Amino acid sequence: MNGLLLIFCLTLANFAVQVSAKDTGYFWQVTDFHYDANYSSTGDPTHMCHQGNTSDNVNIGNYGNYLCDAPWQLITSAIQAMYKIHPEPDFIVWTGDSVPHVDNKDLDVDKVYTLIGNVTDELRTVFPNITIYPVLGNHDPYPANMMPYDVEGTKYYKGILDNSGWTDILGHNESHQFHNGGYYSSHISEKIKLLGLNTNLYYDQDKLTKDLADPADQFNWMEEQLKSARRKDEKVYIIAHVPPGKFELVEDMAWFYGSYNRKYLEILETYADVIEAQLYGHEHTDSFRIQFDGQGKPIGIMLLSPAVTPWKSTLPGVGANNPAIRLFQYDPQSGALKKYVQYFLNLTKANIDSDPTKWEKEYDTSDVYAVDNLRPAAMHEVLKGFNKKENEAFKHYLDYNSVKWLVNQVCNESCFTRHICAISQLDFDNYKTCISGGHTTFKPTTTTVTPITVPSYLYYVIGSMGLLLVVMVVVIGFMCFTKKRGLHAPRYAKFGSLNVNA
Ligand SMILES: *[C@@H]1O[C@H](CO)[C@@H](O)[C@H](O)[C@H]1NC(C)=O
Ligand SMILES: *[C@@H]1O[C@H](CO)[C@@H](O)[C@H](O)[C@H]1NC(C)=O
Ligand SMILES: *[C@@H]1O[C@H](CO)[C@@H](O)[C@H](O)[C@H]1NC(C)=O
Ligand SMILES: *[C@@H]1O[C@H](CO)[C@@H](O)[C@H](O)[C@H]1NC(C)=O
Ligand SMILES: *[C@@H]1O[C@H](CO)[C@@H](O)[C@H](O)[C@H]1NC(C)=O
Ligand SMILES: *[C@@H]1O[C@H](CO)[C@@H](O)[C@H](O)[C@H]1NC(C)=O
Ligand SMILES: *[C@@H]1O[C@H](CO)[C@@H](O)[C@H](O)[C@H]1NC(C)=O
Ligand SMILES: [Zn+2]
Ligand SMILES: [Zn+2]
Repeated sequence: MNGLLLIFCLTLANFAVQVSAKDTGYFWQVTDFHYDANYSSTGDPTHMCHQGNTSDNVNIGNYGNYLCDAPWQLITSAIQAMYKIHPEPDFIVWTGDSVPHVDNKDLDVDKVYTLIGNVTDELRTVFPNITIYPVLGNHDPYPANMMPYDVEGTKYYKGILDNSGWTDILGHNESHQFHNGGYYSSHISEKIKLLGLNTNLYYDQDKLTKDLADPADQFNWMEEQLKSARRKDEKVYIIAHVPPGKFELVEDMAWFYGSYNRKYLEILETYADVIEAQLYGHEHTDSFRIQFDGQGKPIGIMLLSPAVTPWKSTLPGVGANNPAIRLFQYDPQSGALKKYVQYFLNLTKANIDSDPTKWEKEYDTSDVYAVDNLRPAAMHEVLKGFNKKENEAFKHYLDYNSVKWLVNQVCNESCFTRHICAISQLDFDNYKTCISGGHTTFKPTTTTVTPITVPSYLYYVIGSMGLLLVVMVVVIGFMCFTKKRGLHAPRYAKFGSLNVNA
């Protein structure tokens, strides 16, 4: 009996250690600050809120304006809100675009370095002990969009490292890699590897990289990295600025050049088994993408985070957004993303309130989409739920798409199809087929999905079994302690010391 009790006690102690070992981690994603140092609260909103000759000198807001990029006060407010809501994340993902949407003639490369450096400094000041993983956006080079692939011939990447403080946030190894094209790999933990990509090289506004086979050798590097991760049984997070696929708000509008889009998706499909998460910025809207294989099986998820800048796009039909920040919950053991909570600042309210620092929770994926992870299969279920215009989940998604800048908007048949096809068809040809109503791996329909109902007595059965288990654990635990057997289970060190680069 004593032997049996000892086994029970050891099991219990081991269990207790496992429970106390971290099974939930948190990290922030923040993106598209677009810091405009020339913002003025008495500026002209039709001219990016720059000091104009607006006669009446009305105050248009200290926290920003929907027609303009972010003033410094909005930048600090966002970063302070991150600190207030969750001061000790495991790390911070920062997906680019810190430079405002202004004419190239109002900028030069040194101004660009300074603006990016200002945001770097603020993040570092508020989070001095937290690893920050940055990537560049298409507005971060000079001139805008002209991301150089000619690594030998450019001082740009070195300039970002030296003049924008990125050597400090990236650390030695990562900086060394970054120097060769603005991309790097790092380890979040022993088993989770992060690839910080420079997808601006594939952006079709980058006139320098048109018609190349592999700009800055990034595809080749990416495959090597993914191959090595598979061999070492690691999981990979990809973070990048520009996403592949099409924009959900403008019909048939792509981001990547066609050949790069194809190649990028091929790599993602080949290594779908090792890629656990993909996080992007750039669109300023809140959306996601599902990659399907040829058999229609969901194999990858791309999460597109909304921006800090509220700036209303100049693209016809595309609106503004409320400033946003996103907190992820993940499993540090498996790398799986469990959920994210989206926070936002109601800009209208912030500019008139006496307490304008209030960032609010907008939504939590585990509540509104009723999923307990953000993996392909779960997000496929979310998409199936959208596939019915009157559906509540799709209505929520639409409100979140602009971070509630627009709520309860009317989305007619073509609007609906545009969203669904962008979410589900990353390949340009399949997207066209989808938009024109043809058959693809995922097709918008209006068939109703019958919800699965669980008989209520099952809840009682499961509930009472759980209660019995708790009682047993308490009783046996009590017996263990009264035996005073100072049981010291081996420290669960496997992921105890996170190998995070400073
Ligand atoms: C002031 O606005 C008027 C009317 O738009 C314009 O003609 C003039 O050039 C502006 N003056 C300055 C100094 O910007
Ligand atoms: C800000 O204004 C100054 C002075 O007019 C100008 O030289 C500079 O280019 C402007 N910067 C930006 C980012 O617009
Ligand atoms: C941005 O950086 C420049 C150069 O370091 C500095 O002079 C300026 O004060 C900074 N601006 C802010 C708002 O921190
Ligand atoms: C960062 O770490 C240092 C040294 O461990 C500590 O003194 C400081 O309080 C920490 N800062 C924050 C904001 O946690
Ligand atoms: C830096 O890279 C070297 C060689 O690839 C590796 O051995 C080392 O562990 C890395 N250091 C860090 C802190 O990642
Ligand atoms: C934002 O605040 C304004 C002003 O208080 C209010 O009218 C509006 O409904 C708010 N929007 C959201 C999404 O909360
Ligand atoms: C849907 O709405 C848009 C803009 O509101 C309009 O241009 C378009 O013609 C409408 N399409 C259909 C099929 O009703
Ligand atoms: Zn961008
Ligand atoms: Zn942007």
